[in-house]
Amino acid sequence: MSSVDMLIEKLNQALAFELRAINMYAHYAAYVNGINRIHLNPLFTTEATESIQHANIVRGAIVKLGGICVTERHASEIVHTEDYNEMLKFALDTEKYASELYHGILKSVEQIGDDELFDSIEGIYFSELRSIEEMRMLIQ
Ligand SMILES: [Fe+2]
Ligand SMILES: [Fe+2]
Repeated sequence: MSSVDMLIEKLNQALAFELRAINMYAHYAAYVNGINRIHLNPLFTTEATESIQHANIVRGAIVKLGGICVTERHASEIVHTEDYNEMLKFALDTEKYASELYHGILKSVEQIGDDELFDSIEGIYFSELRSIEEMRMLIQ
């Protein structure tokens, strides 16, 4: 497998994981209740929107590299809960895993020497890191 093919495969894993994140955050935005809904409904909605934007960037990269984008979401379970603290813990797990995926992608992009792609993936990576810190601070 060529290094470009390996990169396309990693990008598709990230795309599938963003598609999962869109569903997870939209689900939690719908179910978060009580006084915490005031803050967490907008937070989860923002994260869902951010995941759509990340998916778009990753899709664009796959197309540019001549690959075919996945359309199915990553298979890892989205756990239903109405406990906001559990939602935040699942959000933290999601952001951690996403940041690991993008960290791996950055290493592969470095190998093929595409600076523009590196910058756009690095932007996503930093936003996952920011979300990790935010979820960490919010978990009680
Ligand atoms: Fe993301
Ligand atoms: Fe994220």
